Amino acid sequence: MSDKILMAPIQGVTDYHFRNTYQKFFEGVDVLYSPFLRLDKDMQLKKSKLKDVLPENNVNINLVPQILTNNSAEFIYLSKQMFDLGYKHLNWNLGCPFAMVINRELGSGLLPHFDKIKGLLEKVIPVIPLKLSIKMRIGLESEDDIFKILPILDNYPISEIIIHPRTGKQMYKGEVNTDVFEKCLSLTKHKVCYNGDINTLEDFQNLKNRFENVSSWMIGRGLVTNPFLAEQIKQTVKNTHENKMSRFKEFHDALAKEYLDRLEGSSHFLNKMRIFWEYFSLSFSNSHKVYKRIKKATSVDKYNIAVEQNCTNENWIV
Ligand SMILES: Cc1cc2nc3c(=O)[nH]c(=O)nc-3n(C[C@H](O)[C@H](O)[C@H](O)COP(=O)(O)O)c2cc1C
Repeated sequence: MSDKILMAPIQGVTDYHFRNTYQKFFEGVDVLYSPFLRLDKDMQLKKSKLKDVLPENNVNINLVPQILTNNSAEFIYLSKQMFDLGYKHLNWNLGCPFAMVINRELGSGLLPHFDKIKGLLEKVIPVIPLKLSIKMRIGLESEDDIFKILPILDNYPISEIIIHPRTGKQMYKGEVNTDVFEKCLSLTKHKVCYNGDINTLEDFQNLKNRFENVSSWMIGRGLVTNPFLAEQIKQTVKNTHENKMSRFKEFHDALAKEYLDRLEGSSHFLNKMRIFWEYFSLSFSNSHKVYKRIKKATSVDKYNIAVEQNCTNENWIV
C-alpha cells in the first residue's frame, strides 16, 4: 500500500514514552509528529519539551518535531535547534484551538491573519535549514480562512499541508467538514494530508474512496483508542480478537512500566494511565465499566487488578 499513516500529535498522550512503546508493539505508522514545542519568555524550550524530541529518546522513530509560534525569530531559532538535533523536517502548528493559544494569535488563532502568515513565511522560508510542513484547521471561525490561505501557501515550498477540516471554534467536537476538505484539494498545488476522526478501518476506507488521490493520512485519537488501526488499514498483520487482547495487554504493561519507572508518586502514574484509558476503554466491551474500574483504583496494586479484570472479563471489540 502506498498510503502513508502519520501519528498525530496529542499533547500529554503521544510523548516519547508512548511513541517508543507504540513502535515496539505495532506496525503501520510511517511518521510520528511530536506535540507542539513552544519557547518560553527567555527563548528557551522547557527541559521536558526538549527531552521529548532528543534523538536519543526517539531511536528508530521517524519523528517530525512540531512548533507553535507566530514570531519569526522564534521560528528560526527553533528550526535551527531542531536542525542541530539532526531533524530534516519541521511542522508548524496552525490548528491548536485552546483559548489561551488562540487569544495570542497562535495555532488556529493565527488563521484569520493572512498577512501575518505571509509575512512570517516570507522571513523564515529563506533561512530555515529544514523542510517545512503545516498542520492546520480550515479556519478559526469559518472556512473562509483556508480558502484565502491556500493560494498564499502556493508561493512557498511547503512539503505538505495536513488539514484537519474543523474550525478552531469547533474544538474537537461536531462534524469534520469533508466538503471543505474536498474544495481545498483543488485550491492548492501542495501535497495534502487528511486528518480528523479516522477511528475505524471503515472510516479510512470511506475517505480513501472519496479522496483517492490523497495518500497521506494523519490519525490521532483513533490510534490511541485502537493501536491496531494502522495495521488494519495497511493489512500487515492478521489479528484474531484473542491475540489482540493479549497484544494490547503486553503493550499496556510496557507503557505502564515506562511511566511507573519515571513518574514520582503513584498519583502521577494513576493520573497518566487514566488519560490513556479514556481512549483504550472505547475499544472494550462495556467501555463505561472498563473506564470506571481504572478511575476507581487508588493505588498501583488496585490499578493492576483493574487492568487484569478489564483484560480478562471484557472483550476487545474493534
Ligand atoms: C488532548 C489533545 C491534544 C492535542 N495536541 C496537539 C498538538 O500538540 N499539536 C497538534 O498539531 N495537534 C494536537 N491535537 C490535535 C490532533 O493532532 C488531531 O489533529 C485531532 O485530534 C484530530 O485528529 P483525530 O480525530 O485523528 O484525533 C491534540 C488533540 C487532542 C485531543
